[in-house]
Amino acid sequence: MCGIVGYIGNRDCLGLIIDGLKRLEYRGYDSAGVAILNEDGEINIFKKKGKVKELESQFDFKKLKGHTGIGHTRWATHGEPNDINAHPQSDMTGNISLVHNGIIENFKTLKRKLENEGYTFTSDTDTEVLANLIQYHFKQKNDFELAVRLALTEVEGTYGLAVMNRSEPDKIIIARMGSPLMFGLGKDEIIVSSDAAAIINITKNVIYLEDGEMAVIKFDGFKIKTIKDEEIYREVMKLDYDLEEIEKSGFDHYMLKEICEQPEAIQNTYRGRINFGNGEVKLGGIESVKDDIINARKIIIIACGTAWHAGLLGEYMLEEYCRIPTEVEYASEFRYRNPIIEKGDVVLVISQSGETADTMAALKEAKRLGAVTVGIVNSVGSSIAREVDAGTYIHAGPEIGVASTKAFTCQLMSLILITLMIGKSKGTISEKELKEITEEIKVLPDKMKEIINKRNDYKFIAEEFKDSRNFLYLGRGFNFPVALEGALKLKEISYIHAEGYPAAEMKHGPIALIDENMPVVFIAPKDKTYDKIISNIEEIKARKGKIITIATQDDNEINNYSDYILRVPKTHPILSPILNSIPLQFLSYYIATARGCNVDQPRNLAKSVTVE
Ligand code: AGP
Ligand code: GLU
Repeated sequence: MCGIVGYIGNRDCLGLIIDGLKRLEYRGYDSAGVAILNEDGEINIFKKKGKVKELESQFDFKKLKGHTGIGHTRWATHGEPNDINAHPQSDMTGNISLVHNGIIENFKTLKRKLENEGYTFTSDTDTEVLANLIQYHFKQKNDFELAVRLALTEVEGTYGLAVMNRSEPDKIIIARMGSPLMFGLGKDEIIVSSDAAAIINITKNVIYLEDGEMAVIKFDGFKIKTIKDEEIYREVMKLDYDLEEIEKSGFDHYMLKEICEQPEAIQNTYRGRINFGNGEVKLGGIESVKDDIINARKIIIIACGTAWHAGLLGEYMLEEYCRIPTEVEYASEFRYRNPIIEKGDVVLVISQSGETADTMAALKEAKRLGAVTVGIVNSVGSSIAREVDAGTYIHAGPEIGVASTKAFTCQLMSLILITLMIGKSKGTISEKELKEITEEIKVLPDKMKEIINKRNDYKFIAEEFKDSRNFLYLGRGFNFPVALEGALKLKEISYIHAEGYPAAEMKHGPIALIDENMPVVFIAPKDKTYDKIISNIEEIKARKGKIITIATQDDNEINNYSDYILRVPKTHPILSPILNSIPLQFLSYYIATARGCNVDQPRNLAKSVTVE
């Protein structure tokens, strides 16, 4: 959920760890802390409720010298965010220091057992129990590695963790179960992290730990083992992006940068994958299961949040153009509701981070039930990317803003590519329409740029509506999922309540909410749904709601129905959700900034939800 950084090497590590934590803060940010092994062999711990900046301003860090340390940014699961519950957590003797992502599910049982042995606790966290459990075993065996291993065999739940021991100060031990962890191999230094963002400025050579594995990291090397004590050999992987890609590059916020990056990001999604001559789509990563997908009896799409909205559009597209029955499921529901998977079913799993716990668990369940599993993932080398039978990367580049923007539109593009690939092979899409779509894809990045270049126009509308208490977002057909996504974006970053609905469904309930204070955003492209949408707009107007429309550039008729219009260029209906999403992203961004909200780190949220 949150961030781990660890360092062992020839440099003073405090600054490096702090720097790494700042890069990870988008994952969790309710408290932060570090443990540094100082020159006298003592482990100094500093931790603080709030952001890394607050931790940094609290102490005279310059005086703290040390070449080995661990750090953490927390997203609390057990115990409120405060100084005591912040990590690193220690055992009662102060020998062990531990940072942990995830949840120790049986912590209460373990705590009781340790209390019976005379152990005492100061925090409310599950993590502190694990620190004491390691110390308990260390006291018996006097072997740090063995102690961690024995403790982990008793633990149920999820963890990514990094541990230090005052009695064996030459190493950091790390372990993983359900929460990502990797380490980078620099020159005379090794940096551990839960996310490549904290490693990439030091080295691009990384090793990913798998579930059930631990590693002993020392100044002069490392050793990987399973928790069952089997030796592991793991290849070094090369990170395939640069530091600039994960920095703000002059934008006020990551979210704004990521919205504006979409034309390039979309191009990266389809680059080299479409033969514009004959409309053929080739997705290297899923070639091995292409026939399974084309002949699928049923496709089930599994995802959470924004990725689920992309999945819903996937359902609409796959049924329309490929004639394959498709369902979209919330991962958290799928895994617990005894789903029906039969031979010939294909499960598509969509995830930006590739680390979402619910999605991962649903994926494992789908595999257990015998489905062919296919990933649509952004984060290269992530857990979901490695778990699926085959997959396609969306190549959106690192997405740091907690509110997903470019990943959404690139997920849509990936789903379009899959739709075209199947539709052409099955002959369920005409060559003429295929040509129209692929020709439109070529000019899509320029059309996206047109919208982005007009972004200042949205500020005025944002000012008008920044104090609204509620919003409705309405769309039909392919643009219904866009309405859901527009509403989620506003909720997440501005804390204004918003709901997305199919435009015609509104009269079956939500219309009761309409009065002169209710802004209603209509996604109203000039396509076959247009006349129906106009009728729905009339229904709102008759009840004095304020109408904001996302409308096609040359549509003059819409002027008669709208209080505010956000224009987008004309495109093919299958691509229109990509264009229509951009003004909605800007609208939520500018409303949130006008309200003074922290858009990159909205309250209570974390970038990737690695707990259930
Ligand atoms: C998006 O703005 C959200 N923060 C969230 O809904 C997100 O899409 C969801 O948690 C799924 O994440 P994933 O794509 O990394 O699996
Ligand atoms: N469960 C631990 C806690 O509440 C770790 C949470 C996290 O992943 O940040 O402290």
